[in-house]
Amino acid sequence: MTTAMLIVAAGSGRRAGGDIPKQYRRLDGRSVLSHTIGKCLRAMPGDHVQLVIAEHHERFHHEAIKGLALPAPVIGGATRQASARYGLEALATRGGVSRVLIHDAARPFLSVALIMRVRDALNAHEAVLPALPVTDSLKQVGQNGRVINAPDRSGLWAAQTPQGFRFEPILNAHRRAHSEGLSYFSDDGALAQWAGLDVHIVKGERANRKLTCNADLDDAERKVFMENWLKSSDIRTGQGFDVHAFGSGDHVMLCGVAIPHEAGLVGHSDADVAIHALCDAVLGTIGEGDLGTHFPPNDPQWKGVASKVFLQEVCAMVAMRDGVIANADVTVICEAPRIRPHVAAMRRTLAQIMNIETGRVSVKATTSERLGFTGRGEGIAALACVTIRLPFA
Ligand code: CTP
Ligand code: MG
Repeated sequence: MTTAMLIVAAGSGRRAGGDIPKQYRRLDGRSVLSHTIGKCLRAMPGDHVQLVIAEHHERFHHEAIKGLALPAPVIGGATRQASARYGLEALATRGGVSRVLIHDAARPFLSVALIMRVRDALNAHEAVLPALPVTDSLKQVGQNGRVINAPDRSGLWAAQTPQGFRFEPILNAHRRAHSEGLSYFSDDGALAQWAGLDVHIVKGERANRKLTCNADLDDAERKVFMENWLKSSDIRTGQGFDVHAFGSGDHVMLCGVAIPHEAGLVGHSDADVAIHALCDAVLGTIGEGDLGTHFPPNDPQWKGVASKVFLQEVCAMVAMRDGVIANADVTVICEAPRIRPHVAAMRRTLAQIMNIETGRVSVKATTSERLGFTGRGEGIAALACVTIRLPFA
């Protein structure tokens, strides 16, 4: 007994306006439709999810389903009712479907619990729709904005989708409505009721609003943005400090960039003092000790290794916690070599290693006014500060 999910996405989104149809507008980097599909796929396998799209939306649709194994889409019709019917006919041709949930692509915020609720209610009823009681007072408005009637809202509910049906009855209801030339049904529940099916409600969800106007899409964008923000609002800062002495050599490695110099830096790895300070700052954000804890200097496997390997590793430790690096700020302290000419390359290199934008990386340099060990040219010191964002556990 298969329950299929039919997602109707063939509308043109006239009321929302905009350059592209509302179901393909972007929320957090992917389309509304892709969010809707994602939710459905958490409740049922991909081959049970049937999309209905408009013929001229192929390109948008292609992007929305990238990487997903879904059945080929059905091409919709001029009305939502026609699109739903074409979808049902395709499922009938495929066979083996005993129940169907029909859902608006323009409702990306349905929950898995709601899908289950509708599906389970089909055990007791042949037609089920989620709904919420109407809470605003109702007005019937005539010409020039004049209120002509105030209908009683008691007993009135606003219908949502997914609406669930036993398959044969809803297919037959759609066929009948079509053969009688009726095309005004704005949801399948209304059509089912017209056809004499016993339609029941289950509790809907406030979040499961249909995105209809441009303002609904703006609200949706804000909602997703806020949810993402909350997901990574555990903000941490870490600091790091390191020193390496000058020794023999003809260049120093700083921030992953080789800089010609009359001396090299002494160290077990490539002695990139700036990256070492940066690694300690990253580790500081997640309370994971210091570089020596993870890459002991007496371990032969790290001999001569490029320090970018360490930085990649500690950044991966942040990524494994679903964290993102907000910024990194490095200060190099030495009298020579001159750092400024290399700053742009250093920022680019660090950003690449850390897999963040260059704008999130800062590299600065200073002398210590000929004071102390750096002032006497005995070595180079580096400081780093890193901020990351983690999800609240
Ligand atoms: N829909 C459809 N085929 C149509 C019309 C609508 O598949 N011919 C789909 C829409 O893509 C949407 C759902 O039905 O997911 C609900 O319809 P609605 O909110 O009215 O969307 P649109 O018809 O696209 O918008 P508008 O009425 O503002 O043009
Ligand atoms: Mg419409």
